[in-house]
Amino acid sequence: MGVVGLGAMGAGIAQLCVEAGVDTVGREVSLELAQKAGDRIAHFLTRKVEKGQLDQDARDVAVGRLSLTADLEDLAGCDLVIEAIVEELASKQELFGELERICGGDAVLASNTSALSVTEIASKSSTPQRIVGMHFFNPAPLMPLVEIIRAELSSDDAFETAYAFGEKLGKHPIRCHDTPGFVVNRVLIPLLNDCVRVLDEARVTVEDLDAGMKHGAGWPMGPCELVDLVGIDVHVHASDALYEKLREPRMAPPPRLVAMRNAGLLGRKSGRGFYTYD
Ligand code: 3HC
Repeated sequence: MGVVGLGAMGAGIAQLCVEAGVDTVGREVSLELAQKAGDRIAHFLTRKVEKGQLDQDARDVAVGRLSLTADLEDLAGCDLVIEAIVEELASKQELFGELERICGGDAVLASNTSALSVTEIASKSSTPQRIVGMHFFNPAPLMPLVEIIRAELSSDDAFETAYAFGEKLGKHPIRCHDTPGFVVNRVLIPLLNDCVRVLDEARVTVEDLDAGMKHGAGWPMGPCELVDLVGIDVHVHASDALYEKLREPRMAPPPRLVAMRNAGLLGRKSGRGFYTYD
C-alpha cells in the first residue's frame, strides 16, 4: 500500500492502513515532512494506547508497518496507491503518470480528491482503467465514510478492489459515479456556504451559529468549527471547483471565506480561522 502526500488527509489514511495491518509506504516531498507526518501518526496511536483503545504491542507493530520516503520509486511494490497531494489537476495528472511508470500493471491507483473530477485526473493516463477515487473525510481515522468513485474509464476490478480495501480499513464505503462533489461534498459544501452567509444575514455570532446547528440540527460540530477543521483554503478551493462545474450561486465561496483565506486565516492548521487555536 502506498500513500502519496502526508498532509492531514494522507497521514490519516496512512494511519488507517497500518492500523488495519497493511505495510504502508508514505511519501512526502522531503524526508523532513514525511517524518513530521510519521510523528503525528505515532502520537495519535499513542493516545489510543493511553485511552485503552489499543495495546502497546499493537501500537508498536502498527508504527513499524509505516515506512517513510521522499522517493516515489519506493512505491514500486505497492498493490494500491492513494494520492492525497495538493488539489491541482496538473500536479495530480503528472503524479499518476509517474505512478503508472513505477507501479506494477495490476496496481490500482486512487485519488482522494475532494472536488476535482477523477475522470479528468485520469484523462492523461495510458491506463485509466486502473484509476478510481477513494474520498476520505476529515479526520480520516475517525470518520467512518469513504466514497468509492467510478470514473468514466475505471474498470470493475479497480472499483471493487478499492471498495474492498475501504472495508478492510474498517470504513463504511459507498459507491458512486464521478460527478462534481460526488455525494457528500455536493450537499455539504453549499450547506456550509449557506451557514457562513447566515452569519452576516442574521447577525448571529460564530459561537451562536455553531450552537444553533449543534443543538438544533444535531450536528457533531458547528459549521464554523467544521470549516476550521477542514481548512478554509481547502473549503474555498472545493467551493470554487463545484461552482465552476455547476454554476449554482450557493456553490460559490462566500466573500467572507475568500477574505479569510487571502489573509492566511486557514483554520486549525494556521492557528486561526473563525476560532483561535493554541
Ligand atoms: N487522527 C487520529 N486521531 C485523531 C485525529 C486525527 N486526525 N484527530 C483527533 N483524533 C483523536 C484524538 O486523539 C482525540 O482524542 P484526544 O483529544 O483525547 O487525544 C480523539 O480523536 C477524539 O477526539 P474528540 O474528543 O474531539 O472526538 P469527538 O467525539 O468529539 O469526535 C469528530 C470528533 C469525529 C471529528 C466529530 O466531532 C465529528 O464527527 N465532526 C464532524 C466532522 C466532519 O463532518 N468531517 C467531514 C468534513 S468534510 C470533508 O472532510 C470532505 C473534504 O473533501 C473537504
